[in-house]
Amino acid sequence: MATVTLDTPAVLITGASSGIGFALAEHYLRQGVEVIACGRNAQALKAISGATVLEFDITDSTQVEAAAIKLKQLLHNNHWQLQQVILNAGSCEYIDDALHFDSALFARVINTNVVAMGYCLEHFLPLLNRGARLGLMSSSATYLPFPRAEAYGTSKAAISYLGRSLRVDLAEHGIGVSVICPGFVKTPLTDKNDFAMPMQITAQQAAVAIYNGMQRQRNEIHFPGKFTWLLKLASLLPESLLVSLLTKK
Ligand SMILES: NC(=O)c1ccc[n+]([C@@H]2O[C@H](COP(=O)([O-])OP(=O)(O)OC[C@H]3O[C@@H](n4cnc5c(N)ncnc54)[C@H](OP(=O)(O)O)[C@@H]3O)[C@@H](O)[C@H]2O)c1
Repeated sequence: MATVTLDTPAVLITGASSGIGFALAEHYLRQGVEVIACGRNAQALKAISGATVLEFDITDSTQVEAAAIKLKQLLHNNHWQLQQVILNAGSCEYIDDALHFDSALFARVINTNVVAMGYCLEHFLPLLNRGARLGLMSSSATYLPFPRAEAYGTSKAAISYLGRSLRVDLAEHGIGVSVICPGFVKTPLTDKNDFAMPMQITAQQAAVAIYNGMQRQRNEIHFPGKFTWLLKLASLLPESLLVSLLTKK
């Protein structure tokens, strides 16, 4: 009787060299999933014991394409099935003076967080089969118009829309899409913030919430619940009231 060998499940995570991505990679490995950890910092990626490292800059479409070619070989040679892709890599910069709008900063953030996600989608989506799931890293910052967040918030709002629209188009191909909206998570990205970050959680807690949300095929994975539901409720307030509440005093 012929034996059927089932492919081992694998996940690809961008931005795995640090913060949430690093914790996610470690968490998936603990669940017995093969992890393809992606980033620019090979040294940091090698610290994820048991992961397969793919080194590339997401803002360089040629590098993303080369990484996808390598990934296809890896999947084939190791009998891995790419069941999840989590496009987590991103950056945050603030517009400090809205009157003197820094368009270079704006373009930089949109390029890393949004345009580069397009490169990843172009080259990684063809490697997904029916039943696979895509996770796009947005932010709970999209629920309210936060000060100084013109670049970061715009980029994340674009990702949320991108995820919702992709969900409609990928449904017939059997590929699900989760939009991930964390509150404050302690990482090198938020360590730079100079303001209070209520209900901040650890990267490990974020990784568990994301993993569980992906397994449960949630359309939107938002956490910590108390914080994100509060923001969602606040978003129902009249815009003029919100502006006065959020304006620097
Ligand atoms: N921390 C939070 O509170 C929070 C809340 C909501 C959403 N998020 C989102 O979560 C994601 C992860 O953030 P984090 O907090 O974990 O920050 P982080 O520790 O700074 O990690 C960011 C990751 O993105 C990678 N990255 C940035 N630009 C890249 C590029 N051009 N090419 C390849 N990789 C690149 C970084 O790689 P390098 O090591 O090479 O720089 C790093 O691995 C981001 O999209 C962020 O916007 C974070």
